[in-house]
Amino acid sequence: MSIPNKPRLLTGDRPTGKLHLGHYFGSLQSRVALQEQHQNFILIADVQALTDHFHHPEQVSENVLEVLKDNLAVGLKEEHCTFVLQSQVPEIAELTVFFSNLVTLSRLQQNPTVRHEIRQKQALFGESVTYGFLGYPISQAADLAAFQAEVVPVGEDQLPILEQSRELIRTFHRYYGEVFPEPQALMAQHRRIKGLDGQQKMGKSLGNAIHLADSAEVTQQRVMGAVTDPQKIRKNDPGHPEVCTVYTYHALFQPENLGQVHQECTQGQRGCVSCKKELSEKINTHLQPLRERRSALNEKHPELTALLLDHTETARVTSRATLQKVRQGMRLMVKTE
Ligand code: TRP
Repeated sequence: MSIPNKPRLLTGDRPTGKLHLGHYFGSLQSRVALQEQHQNFILIADVQALTDHFHHPEQVSENVLEVLKDNLAVGLKEEHCTFVLQSQVPEIAELTVFFSNLVTLSRLQQNPTVRHEIRQKQALFGESVTYGFLGYPISQAADLAAFQAEVVPVGEDQLPILEQSRELIRTFHRYYGEVFPEPQALMAQHRRIKGLDGQQKMGKSLGNAIHLADSAEVTQQRVMGAVTDPQKIRKNDPGHPEVCTVYTYHALFQPENLGQVHQECTQGQRGCVSCKKELSEKINTHLQPLRERRSALNEKHPELTALLLDHTETARVTSRATLQKVRQGMRLMVKTE
């Protein structure tokens, strides 16, 4: 699995739910496109998932294999990717502790991504956020550093987290010497997809998502319930595709027919019901092969667990070696194994 000369790429997901179309267009598709040119570490970030699911550990553990299946079903290949279960890599936790001296509280509080997320999680955190959640960018820096990641595919909203990782790594180098590459952002094609309810983001917990694992029937039901142009009530009313959520999905699933969809809608020749039916058929056709691969994996949980642990052990060869260098640089006792 260690293919020399290919840049080391690290990315991952928090296993708090099955992955959906937001993940698919936002990151999974570009992961697949990038896999052959990189040496990939795909992290299942169960420890990070606990930062906002500490009260629901079962929700995290139940989703570890679900997320692995989603990644495999979209086309990531074992021969190109090392899948890593974060909680089985103590070196990440160790490095997180070391890194936490190198960032101030106010720097953490200023991170725009984290600020936004804290606001979204008002119900969970109320007036005061946990130390663990505020600090998750530190552990994310440790994820990258432990595996010597050189590139990280990111969408714009994640850039501040990566910038913080780069800062931490530079600070570490200033005090303790060079140990890590400084990871570069890879601005891959990250397309944002709205929720079916018209909300800006499709969310695992928002109930506005189509999951990769959903059946064709559920997909159709969800699409039929999607929000459209509120001014278009009857089939013959001229619609406004620019305000219609369903139209944004047509752009993703049938870009070749988009002009026609637009024209028929604005001219009152396309009713929302048939427009949604057409869309759900397109989505279902697109997802069909992926769903077949995914449901075949449902029968293979023991094998998938073995694969994940095996890959994680392989990855730990790197994280152990990194931590030896870290300890050396920090003048801590270097353990000989
Ligand atoms: N923060 C990512 C998410 O919300 C998961 C993640 C953890 C990650 N560590 C990472 C992504 C390192 C990229 C690189 O899903």
